[in-house]
Amino acid sequence: MAATGSAVGLGNIWGFPYKMGTNGGFAFLVVYLILVALVGFAILIVELSIGRTTGKGAVGSYMALSRRFKWLGWLAFLSAFFIMTFYSVLGGYCIRYAVANFGDLIGASFGTGELSAGSFFASFIANQTASIIYTLIFMIITAVIVMKGVSEGIESFSKTAMPLLFVMLLIVVIRSVTLPGAEEGLRFMFKPNLEPFKTDFFKVFSTASGQMFFSLSLAMGAMITYGSYLQKTDNIVRNAILVPAADTFIAILAGIAVLPAAFALGGEGAAMAGPKLLFITLQHVFASMGATGPLFGLIFYILVIIAALTSAISLVEVITAFFLDAADARGKKANRKIVAALVSLSIMAVAVFVAADGLGSTGFPTIMGYIWLDFMDLLSEGVMMPLGALLTAIFISMEYGLPNIAKEVRIGNNRFASYSFFAFSVRFIVPVVLLLVLYGQLKGFGLLG
Ligand code: PHE
Repeated sequence: MAATGSAVGLGNIWGFPYKMGTNGGFAFLVVYLILVALVGFAILIVELSIGRTTGKGAVGSYMALSRRFKWLGWLAFLSAFFIMTFYSVLGGYCIRYAVANFGDLIGASFGTGELSAGSFFASFIANQTASIIYTLIFMIITAVIVMKGVSEGIESFSKTAMPLLFVMLLIVVIRSVTLPGAEEGLRFMFKPNLEPFKTDFFKVFSTASGQMFFSLSLAMGAMITYGSYLQKTDNIVRNAILVPAADTFIAILAGIAVLPAAFALGGEGAAMAGPKLLFITLQHVFASMGATGPLFGLIFYILVIIAALTSAISLVEVITAFFLDAADARGKKANRKIVAALVSLSIMAVAVFVAADGLGSTGFPTIMGYIWLDFMDLLSEGVMMPLGALLTAIFISMEYGLPNIAKEVRIGNNRFASYSFFAFSVRFIVPVVLLLVLYGQLKGFGLLG
């Protein structure tokens, strides 16, 4: 449940629908599912196993297990930082939408008012002060929880919140697919069409791959940390199947909630709307629900905020834990509260720019042609996560040894029937896929001419 809580977040609800929308729909879905089965499953087994073997977090695990890849935990540390610089901005947007729907519900002036879904969003993101304040609110909530230590409270909280989110998502799905014109969106998602590969295979392929790592919280230390909490009798293989299954299911559901509605309400262009797709389209859907819309909107966004918080906490925890462990290694005792506060503050220092950029709506300079949010996203999920996963696969097959993973998985008489498939995947499929992804990314960044 905890691993599923980390996996299910804005990646599923915000990222998946728009990436599928801008990368050919069905073609993206096919590549995504294949990558989950061939790459995600194997990396998840590796991460859970080494976490349980060492009983430590990302940095500590590599320090303990490797001679040549001791520093690999650092990559996780940096990815977590970059992800948080835009994750917090999106979390802030979700808070703004919860507030707006509450405003609509009680007829107060902080609702969406007379504005259409599109112009409400446009005027909010262009308001730099408001964007920064909402980002700050999200960051403060995250920081306070991490400062207290990730307690039992959050876990039991998310155990009720997650099933509730699922139910709310179903309600939105039903509304979305019953809108006139929704079939177009369903066809886009599920009708076989591999045409998009012809135009830009590498783009579809590397976007799907980055999204897969991001959504499963892989190559970022989070799953190593969760592995360290597993019991020796727990079945790692079963976890490595259930977590991706649940995560993928929620992502596809979010796709069905957003894409058909985008087609129904905004025509084909809306499906290609990129990072703003979720916010604009869903607000359209809530508006089409009439008087009950704001209530559904409010509940929905509160649940999304909770899902985002459970993921954000695990990200900030990875960075915080590194400093605590490092102090420990020097025989000193660091103050968790101060470390967590400073980590959050430095994330906020960069997030301010992402928030102020307002998805490129405020005339901020772009970075290598990308808006700030997309750049941070590409850097982390597009480059650092695949690179980390590639090095992990090399470390496991060349230095640590696949049999050691098998030994860990088989503890407590657990079977590992998929071992040959797993070993083949780590040795061959993962490296080849990730080299292709990195090649595609560098090409996309314009670094290969
Ligand atoms: N998986 C989370 C999501 O989909 C994001 C995340 C990535 C969380 C990496 C932790 C580690 O939103």
